[in-house]
Amino acid sequence: MNARLITLEGGEGAGKSTVLAGVYEHLQKRGIDVLITREPGGTRLGEAVRCLVLDPEQGDLCAESELLLMFAARAQLVREVICPALSSGVWVLADRYIDASYAYQGGGRGQPAERISELERWAAVGIKPDLTVLLDLPVPVGRRRVLQRNTQGDPAGPDRDRIERENDAFFDRVRAVYTARARAEPERFRVIDASRSPDRVLADASSAVDELIVRCETRP
Ligand code: TYD
Repeated sequence: MNARLITLEGGEGAGKSTVLAGVYEHLQKRGIDVLITREPGGTRLGEAVRCLVLDPEQGDLCAESELLLMFAARAQLVREVICPALSSGVWVLADRYIDASYAYQGGGRGQPAERISELERWAAVGIKPDLTVLLDLPVPVGRRRVLQRNTQGDPAGPDRDRIERENDAFFDRVRAVYTARARAEPERFRVIDASRSPDRVLADASSAVDELIVRCETRP
């Protein structure tokens, strides 16, 4: 069975970390060799980019720079980590990938989709996810969860990164792009209602992974 790329996407407070850990364990239990990546990040360059783009001190970073930085990190990750893993038979479980740029830099910041798809062609060398799990929930529900976790309770507080400080309208646009992409590619996406309990969300994510495994076994 060829190695596959599974990506995990979602807005704030969707429970992405819990699902990521659970899906990783699930794949391992199925005897699949798997590697986790995160974006922006996952390489030395990518982690440096992550510090830059999430640093609240970079408040006035322009949308074009933000987009290019996300893709600079991604180009490196694809070449240094994702391609070598997939070609050596290791599955990749990616904590965000290209859909995040369409959602955040496209929807959130208003960068044109054609520009992003040009960067995609250039940076991602044709590596597309086999399955994208989208953890979807209304923006105010996600925000409330984050604020409850956060001792300061302030959406612009000191422990919020540069992007987390954006307002609800920004995150509504992010969500709208994610869901539109899911509607346009129903084969690849599995949209999961993340406003439910973590157990139920993880169960749905695991069953999406199992469906992919079955598909791979029948169409290797
Ligand atoms: P992440 O580590 O997933 O943060 P969280 O779990 O708090 O959502 O992602 C970091 C931030 O980077 C997140 O706000 C989304 C943003 N991001 C983009 O804006 N564009 C991108 O292409 C990627 C990969 C992430």
